[in-house]
Amino acid sequence: MRVLAAQELAPGACREVLAGTTPVALFNLSGTFHAISNVCLHRGGPLGQGVLDGPLVLCPWHAWAFDVTTGVSDVNPQLRVRRFDVKVEDGQVYVKAE
Ligand code: FES
Repeated sequence: MRVLAAQELAPGACREVLAGTTPVALFNLSGTFHAISNVCLHRGGPLGQGVLDGPLVLCPWHAWAFDVTTGVSDVNPQLRVRRFDVKVEDGQVYVKAE
């Protein structure tokens, strides 16, 4: 599912997108795109509105951190948000979320 053009998301930036009907948090980590669920496991905060700190995104609501490359919580490795495959083709970013 195409979500945006690669040039719309600069390195170090993140954005909420919809892949079909699935809310996805999309990240540009030094030129590589990563996608995880947009819904934080704490209280459902929008991870795509968070702040990137290296490979970690800090949830904008209460700062829980998740690794955007794996979805795993920085605090509790037992917790993991869903991760989605991403590909870039012809300058377009596609997220596989079904
Ligand atoms: S909702 Fe994400 S840290 Fe609380």
